[in-house]
Amino acid sequence: MSILITGGTGFVGAELARTLVGRGEEVVLFDVAPNYARISDIQDKVKVVTGNLAYWAEVLNVVQENNTKGIIHLGSMLSVPSNANPWASFQVNVVGTMNILEAARLLGVGKVVFSSTLATFGLDCPPVVTDTTIQRPITMYGCGKLYCECLGRFYNSRFGLDFRSVRYPAVIGPGVRTPGVAQWNAWMIEYPVLGRPFDCYVEEDTKCPILYFKDAALSTDLIYQAPRERIKTMNYNVAGVVPTRTAKEIEQVVKEHVPEARISYNPDQKVMDYFRAARTEVFDDSRAREEWGWQAEYPDFQKVVADFIEEIRVHPDRYGIVQEN
Ligand SMILES: NC(=O)c1ccc[n+]([C@@H]2O[C@H](COP(=O)([O-])OP(=O)(O)OC[C@H]3O[C@@H](n4cnc5c(N)ncnc54)[C@H](O)[C@@H]3O)[C@@H](O)[C@H]2O)c1
Repeated sequence: MSILITGGTGFVGAELARTLVGRGEEVVLFDVAPNYARISDIQDKVKVVTGNLAYWAEVLNVVQENNTKGIIHLGSMLSVPSNANPWASFQVNVVGTMNILEAARLLGVGKVVFSSTLATFGLDCPPVVTDTTIQRPITMYGCGKLYCECLGRFYNSRFGLDFRSVRYPAVIGPGVRTPGVAQWNAWMIEYPVLGRPFDCYVEEDTKCPILYFKDAALSTDLIYQAPRERIKTMNYNVAGVVPTRTAKEIEQVVKEHVPEARISYNPDQKVMDYFRAARTEVFDDSRAREEWGWQAEYPDFQKVVADFIEEIRVHPDRYGIVQEN
Protein backbone atom coordinates (compact mmCIF):
# COMPACT_ATOMS: atom_id res chain seq x y z
CA MET A 1 0.00 0.00 0.00
CA SER A 2 1.23 3.47 -0.75
CA ILE A 3 1.49 6.88 0.85
CA LEU A 4 0.36 9.66 -1.45
CA ILE A 5 2.06 13.04 -1.11
CA THR A 6 0.24 15.84 -2.90
CA GLY A 7 2.54 18.66 -3.97
CA GLY A 8 5.05 15.85 -3.64
CA THR A 9 7.82 17.34 -5.78
CA GLY A 10 7.66 20.70 -3.99
CA PHE A 11 10.08 22.16 -1.49
CA VAL A 12 8.79 20.22 1.55
CA GLY A 13 7.24 17.30 -0.37
CA ALA A 14 10.48 16.19 -2.03
CA GLU A 15 12.33 16.18 1.29
CA LEU A 16 9.55 14.19 2.93
CA ALA A 17 9.48 11.75 0.00
CA ARG A 18 13.21 11.14 0.56
CA THR A 19 12.51 10.24 4.20
CA LEU A 20 9.62 7.91 3.37
CA VAL A 21 11.56 6.16 0.61
CA GLY A 22 14.44 5.72 3.05
CA ARG A 23 12.05 3.95 5.39
CA GLY A 24 10.98 1.56 2.64
CA GLU A 25 7.54 3.07 2.02
CA GLU A 26 5.83 2.89 -1.36
CA VAL A 27 5.50 6.55 -2.31
CA VAL A 28 3.32 8.29 -4.89
CA LEU A 29 3.89 11.96 -5.66
CA PHE A 30 0.96 13.91 -7.13
CA ASP A 31 1.84 17.31 -8.53
CA VAL A 32 0.44 19.68 -11.14
CA ALA A 33 3.94 20.62 -12.33
CA PRO A 34 6.39 17.94 -11.23
CA ASN A 35 9.87 19.20 -10.44
CA TYR A 36 12.05 16.21 -11.36
CA ALA A 37 15.31 17.93 -10.44
CA ARG A 38 14.25 18.00 -6.80
CA ILE A 39 13.71 14.25 -6.72
CA SER A 40 16.44 13.10 -9.12
CA ASP A 41 18.06 10.94 -6.42
CA ILE A 42 14.81 9.03 -5.71
CA GLN A 43 13.03 9.26 -9.04
CA ASP A 44 13.35 5.55 -9.75
CA LYS A 45 11.97 4.73 -6.29
CA VAL A 46 8.75 6.77 -6.42
CA LYS A 47 5.79 7.03 -8.76
CA VAL A 48 5.05 10.52 -10.04
CA VAL A 49 1.52 11.36 -11.18
CA THR A 50 0.83 14.66 -12.88
CA GLY A 51 -2.55 16.02 -11.90
CA ASN A 52 -4.52 18.91 -10.49
CA LEU A 53 -6.00 18.89 -7.00
CA ALA A 54 -8.89 21.00 -8.25
CA TYR A 55 -10.04 18.22 -10.59
CA TRP A 56 -12.11 15.77 -8.58
CA ALA A 57 -11.71 12.89 -11.03
CA GLU A 58 -7.92 13.20 -11.05
CA VAL A 59 -7.79 13.17 -7.27
CA LEU A 60 -10.21 10.26 -6.95
CA ASN A 61 -8.28 8.33 -9.56
CA VAL A 62 -4.83 8.77 -8.02
CA VAL A 63 -6.09 7.76 -4.59
CA GLN A 64 -7.99 4.74 -5.94
CA GLU A 65 -5.37 3.55 -8.42
CA ASN A 66 -2.51 3.36 -5.94
CA ASN A 67 -4.00 1.41 -3.06
CA THR A 68 -3.47 4.44 -0.85
CA LYS A 69 -3.11 3.87 2.90
CA GLY A 70 -2.36 7.49 3.84
CA ILE A 71 -2.35 10.93 2.26
CA ILE A 72 0.03 13.73 3.12
CA HIS A 73 -1.57 16.75 1.55
CA LEU A 74 1.02 19.44 0.80
CA GLY A 75 -0.15 20.58 -2.64
CA SER A 76 -1.14 24.21 -2.53
CA MET A 77 -0.86 27.64 -4.07
CA LEU A 78 1.24 29.69 -1.69
CA SER A 79 0.54 33.10 -0.23
CA VAL A 80 1.46 35.65 -2.91
CA PRO A 81 0.04 33.65 -5.86
CA SER A 82 -3.14 33.08 -3.83
CA ASN A 83 -3.61 36.78 -3.19
CA ALA A 84 -2.87 37.52 -6.85
CA ASN A 85 -5.44 34.98 -8.06
CA PRO A 86 -7.93 34.26 -5.24
CA TRP A 87 -10.25 32.42 -7.63
CA ALA A 88 -7.63 29.86 -8.57
CA SER A 89 -6.51 29.67 -4.95
CA PHE A 90 -10.05 28.78 -3.89
CA GLN A 91 -10.18 25.96 -6.43
CA VAL A 92 -6.75 24.53 -5.57
CA ASN A 93 -6.50 25.13 -1.83
CA VAL A 94 -10.12 24.81 -0.72
CA VAL A 95 -11.84 22.64 -3.35
CA GLY A 96 -8.62 20.63 -3.73
CA THR A 97 -8.59 19.84 0.00
CA MET A 98 -12.29 18.96 -0.06
CA ASN A 99 -11.48 16.59 -2.94
CA ILE A 100 -8.72 14.95 -0.90
CA LEU A 101 -10.95 14.52 2.15
CA GLU A 102 -13.81 13.12 0.09
CA ALA A 103 -11.55 10.69 -1.75
CA ALA A 104 -10.12 9.56 1.60
CA ARG A 105 -13.61 9.08 3.03
CA LEU A 106 -15.07 7.25 0.04
CA LEU A 107 -12.05 5.00 -0.51
CA GLY A 108 -11.35 4.28 3.16
CA VAL A 109 -7.88 5.84 3.33
CA GLY A 110 -6.41 5.41 6.82
CA LYS A 111 -5.37 8.98 7.52
CA VAL A 112 -4.86 12.41 6.06
CA VAL A 113 -2.16 14.86 7.15
CA PHE A 114 -2.60 18.47 6.07
CA SER A 115 -0.06 21.30 5.98
CA SER A 116 -1.44 24.55 7.30
CA THR A 117 0.27 27.79 8.12
CA LEU A 118 1.06 30.53 10.59
CA ALA A 119 -0.85 32.73 8.11
CA THR A 120 -4.14 31.36 9.53
CA PHE A 121 -3.43 33.84 12.32
CA GLY A 122 -3.22 37.42 11.17
CA LEU A 123 -5.19 40.38 12.40
CA ASP A 124 -3.83 41.82 15.66
CA CYS A 125 -1.69 38.78 16.42
CA PRO A 126 -0.44 38.67 19.99
CA PRO A 127 3.34 38.31 20.42
CA VAL A 128 2.86 34.69 21.52
CA VAL A 129 0.70 32.60 19.18
CA THR A 130 -0.55 29.30 20.60
CA ASP A 131 -2.89 26.62 19.29
CA THR A 132 -5.78 28.37 21.02
CA THR A 133 -5.03 31.90 19.77
CA ILE A 134 -7.93 33.29 17.76
CA GLN A 135 -7.34 32.79 14.03
CA ARG A 136 -8.28 35.79 11.90
CA PRO A 137 -6.32 35.49 8.65
CA ILE A 138 -5.82 38.53 6.44
CA THR A 139 -4.82 36.77 3.20
CA MET A 140 -6.66 34.56 0.71
CA TYR A 141 -4.11 31.86 1.48
CA GLY A 142 -4.65 32.06 5.24
CA CYS A 143 -8.45 32.10 4.86
CA GLY A 144 -8.37 28.96 2.70
CA LYS A 145 -5.98 27.11 4.99
CA LEU A 146 -8.06 27.93 8.08
CA TYR A 147 -11.21 26.70 6.38
CA CYS A 148 -9.42 23.43 5.55
CA GLU A 149 -8.23 22.97 9.14
CA CYS A 150 -11.87 23.26 10.19
CA LEU A 151 -13.05 21.05 7.33
CA GLY A 152 -10.64 18.31 8.41
CA ARG A 153 -11.94 18.56 11.97
CA PHE A 154 -15.49 18.24 10.61
CA TYR A 155 -14.58 15.14 8.57
CA ASN A 156 -13.09 13.68 11.72
CA SER A 157 -16.18 14.27 13.85
CA ARG A 158 -18.79 13.52 11.15
CA PHE A 159 -17.11 10.59 9.35
CA GLY A 160 -14.40 9.41 11.76
CA LEU A 161 -11.63 10.31 9.31
CA ASP A 162 -8.21 10.34 10.97
CA PHE A 163 -7.22 13.92 10.13
CA ARG A 164 -4.21 15.81 11.53
CA SER A 165 -2.43 18.97 10.53
CA VAL A 166 0.73 20.93 11.18
CA ARG A 167 0.94 24.69 10.88
CA TYR A 168 4.37 25.68 9.65
CA PRO A 169 5.75 29.17 10.15
CA ALA A 170 7.84 30.51 7.20
CA VAL A 171 9.72 27.52 5.81
CA ILE A 172 13.26 28.33 4.73
CA GLY A 173 15.80 26.41 2.70
CA PRO A 174 17.67 26.60 -0.59
CA GLY A 175 15.95 27.10 -3.93
CA VAL A 176 12.78 28.89 -2.84
CA ARG A 177 11.46 30.71 -5.91
CA THR A 178 7.78 31.37 -5.24
CA PRO A 179 7.46 34.98 -4.09
CA GLY A 180 6.17 35.34 -0.54
CA VAL A 181 6.02 37.83 2.30
CA ALA A 182 8.56 35.84 4.32
CA GLN A 183 10.96 34.58 1.64
CA TRP A 184 13.53 37.22 2.66
CA ASN A 185 14.51 34.87 5.48
CA ALA A 186 15.76 32.29 2.96
CA TRP A 187 17.07 34.71 0.35
CA MET A 188 19.16 36.58 2.93
CA ILE A 189 21.19 33.37 3.22
CA GLU A 190 21.06 32.11 -0.35
CA TYR A 191 21.95 35.31 -2.24
CA PRO A 192 25.17 36.04 -0.30
CA VAL A 193 26.27 32.40 -0.61
CA LEU A 194 25.89 32.76 -4.38
CA GLY A 195 27.80 36.06 -4.38
CA ARG A 196 24.71 38.13 -5.16
CA PRO A 197 23.57 41.30 -3.37
CA PHE A 198 20.29 41.04 -1.49
CA ASP A 199 17.99 44.05 -1.20
CA CYS A 200 15.78 43.04 1.71
CA TYR A 201 12.15 44.12 1.35
CA VAL A 202 11.33 44.39 5.09
CA GLU A 203 12.60 46.74 7.79
CA GLU A 204 15.65 45.71 9.79
CA ASP A 205 13.67 45.00 12.98
CA THR A 206 11.05 42.76 11.28
CA LYS A 207 10.64 39.34 12.85
CA CYS A 208 9.01 36.23 11.44
CA PRO A 209 9.16 32.71 12.95
CA ILE A 210 11.00 30.29 10.66
CA LEU A 211 11.31 26.53 10.25
CA TYR A 212 14.08 24.83 8.30
CA PHE A 213 12.65 22.76 5.41
CA LYS A 214 14.14 19.56 6.82
CA ASP A 215 12.24 20.20 10.04
CA ALA A 216 9.04 20.92 8.09
CA ALA A 217 9.40 17.45 6.53
CA LEU A 218 10.32 15.92 9.89
CA SER A 219 7.29 17.37 11.70
CA THR A 220 5.01 16.15 8.94
CA ASP A 221 6.47 12.67 9.09
CA LEU A 222 6.22 12.59 12.91
CA ILE A 223 2.59 13.61 12.94
CA TYR A 224 1.86 11.07 10.20
CA GLN A 225 3.40 8.34 12.32
CA ALA A 226 1.94 9.40 15.68
CA PRO A 227 -0.49 6.89 17.22
CA ARG A 228 -4.07 8.08 16.79
CA GLU A 229 -4.74 8.28 20.53
CA ARG A 230 -1.99 10.90 20.87
CA ILE A 231 -3.76 13.28 18.49
CA LYS A 232 -6.03 15.45 20.62
CA THR A 233 -5.59 19.04 19.44
CA MET A 234 -5.62 17.89 15.77
CA ASN A 235 -4.28 21.15 14.24
CA TYR A 236 -0.85 22.02 15.66
CA ASN A 237 1.69 24.83 15.54
CA VAL A 238 5.20 23.57 14.87
CA ALA A 239 8.02 25.99 15.63
CA GLY A 240 11.56 25.76 14.35
CA VAL A 241 14.29 28.29 15.01
CA VAL A 242 14.19 29.75 18.51
CA PRO A 243 14.35 32.64 19.32
CA THR A 244 12.73 34.44 16.40
CA ARG A 245 15.33 36.81 14.96
CA THR A 246 15.02 40.21 13.33
CA ALA A 247 16.20 40.67 9.75
CA LYS A 248 19.26 42.50 11.06
CA GLU A 249 20.09 39.65 13.45
CA ILE A 250 19.80 37.16 10.58
CA GLU A 251 22.14 39.35 8.54
CA GLN A 252 24.68 39.27 11.37
CA VAL A 253 24.70 35.45 11.53
CA VAL A 254 24.93 35.19 7.73
CA LYS A 255 27.95 37.52 7.78
CA GLU A 256 29.72 35.18 10.21
CA HIS A 257 29.56 32.57 7.42
CA VAL A 258 29.82 34.90 4.42
CA PRO A 259 31.71 38.03 5.57
CA GLU A 260 31.54 39.66 2.14
CA ALA A 261 27.68 39.46 2.07
CA ARG A 262 26.08 42.56 0.51
CA ILE A 263 22.70 43.15 2.20
CA SER A 264 20.66 46.36 1.98
CA TYR A 265 17.12 47.29 3.07
CA ASN A 266 14.38 48.69 0.88
CA PRO A 267 11.12 47.91 2.71
CA ASP A 268 7.99 47.19 0.68
CA GLN A 269 5.18 48.98 2.51
CA LYS A 270 2.56 46.35 1.55
CA VAL A 271 4.70 43.62 3.06
CA MET A 272 5.32 45.77 6.11
CA ASP A 273 1.56 46.31 6.51
CA TYR A 274 1.27 42.52 6.70
CA PHE A 275 3.97 42.21 9.35
CA ARG A 276 2.59 45.11 11.36
CA ALA A 277 -0.75 43.27 11.58
CA ALA A 278 0.63 39.76 11.96
CA ARG A 279 3.77 40.29 14.01
CA THR A 280 4.56 37.11 15.97
CA GLU A 281 7.46 36.82 18.39
CA VAL A 282 6.83 33.28 19.63
CA PHE A 283 5.13 30.50 17.70
CA ASP A 284 4.21 28.27 20.62
CA ASP A 285 4.24 24.57 19.75
CA SER A 286 3.91 23.11 23.24
CA ARG A 287 0.93 20.95 22.31
CA ALA A 288 2.78 19.25 19.44
CA ARG A 289 5.63 18.59 21.86
CA GLU A 290 3.37 17.23 24.59
CA GLU A 291 1.00 15.19 22.43
CA TRP A 292 3.24 13.56 19.82
CA GLY A 293 6.78 14.38 20.82
CA TRP A 294 7.65 17.08 18.28
CA GLN A 295 11.12 18.48 18.59
CA ALA A 296 12.97 20.42 15.90
CA GLU A 297 16.36 19.14 14.77
CA TYR A 298 17.34 22.65 13.67
CA PRO A 299 16.26 25.04 16.44
CA ASP A 300 19.68 26.71 16.30
CA PHE A 301 20.00 29.30 13.53
CA GLN A 302 23.76 28.80 13.23
CA LYS A 303 23.09 25.12 12.45
CA VAL A 304 20.45 26.09 9.86
CA VAL A 305 22.82 28.44 8.04
CA ALA A 306 25.64 25.88 8.05
CA ASP A 307 23.40 23.13 6.65
CA PHE A 308 21.77 25.49 4.12
CA ILE A 309 25.22 26.40 2.73
CA GLU A 310 26.23 22.74 2.63
CA GLU A 311 23.05 21.77 0.73
CA ILE A 312 23.78 24.42 -1.91
CA ARG A 313 27.36 23.21 -2.22
CA VAL A 314 26.49 19.50 -2.48
CA HIS A 315 23.18 19.57 -4.39
CA PRO A 316 22.98 22.76 -6.50
CA ASP A 317 20.99 20.97 -9.23
CA ARG A 318 18.41 19.70 -6.76
CA TYR A 319 17.59 23.30 -5.78
CA GLY A 320 17.83 24.78 -9.27
CA ILE A 321 20.83 26.85 -8.23
CA VAL A 322 23.00 28.39 -10.92
CA GLN A 323 26.37 29.61 -9.70
CA GLU A 324 27.30 32.92 -11.31
CA ASN A 325 30.94 32.99 -10.28
N1 LIG B 1 6.90 27.39 2.19
C1 LIG B 1 6.39 27.95 3.29
O1 LIG B 1 6.93 28.94 3.83
C2 LIG B 1 5.14 27.39 3.92
C3 LIG B 1 4.70 27.93 5.13
C4 LIG B 1 3.54 27.44 5.71
C5 LIG B 1 2.86 26.39 5.10
N2 LIG B 1 3.31 25.88 3.91
C6 LIG B 1 2.56 24.80 3.29
O2 LIG B 1 3.41 23.72 3.08
C7 LIG B 1 3.00 22.97 1.93
C8 LIG B 1 4.19 22.71 1.05
O3 LIG B 1 4.70 23.96 0.63
P1 LIG B 1 6.10 24.10 -0.09
O4 LIG B 1 6.88 25.12 0.64
O5 LIG B 1 6.69 22.77 -0.33
O6 LIG B 1 5.63 24.78 -1.44
P2 LIG B 1 5.95 24.39 -2.97
O7 LIG B 1 5.33 25.46 -3.78
O8 LIG B 1 7.39 24.10 -3.15
O9 LIG B 1 5.17 23.01 -3.11
C9 LIG B 1 3.80 22.97 -3.39
C10 LIG B 1 3.62 21.96 -4.50
O10 LIG B 1 2.21 21.90 -4.79
C11 LIG B 1 2.10 21.78 -6.19
N3 LIG B 1 0.77 22.26 -6.60
C12 LIG B 1 0.35 23.52 -6.71
N4 LIG B 1 -0.89 23.57 -7.18
C13 LIG B 1 -1.28 22.28 -7.38
C14 LIG B 1 -2.46 21.68 -7.90
N5 LIG B 1 -3.47 22.42 -8.32
N6 LIG B 1 -2.51 20.34 -7.96
C15 LIG B 1 -1.44 19.57 -7.59
N7 LIG B 1 -0.29 20.09 -7.11
C16 LIG B 1 -0.23 21.44 -7.01
C17 LIG B 1 3.22 22.64 -6.77
O11 LIG B 1 3.53 22.27 -8.10
C18 LIG B 1 4.34 22.37 -5.79
O12 LIG B 1 5.18 21.32 -6.23
C19 LIG B 1 1.91 23.81 1.27
O13 LIG B 1 0.66 23.28 1.59
C20 LIG B 1 2.08 25.17 1.89
O14 LIG B 1 0.86 25.85 1.94
C21 LIG B 1 4.45 26.35 3.32
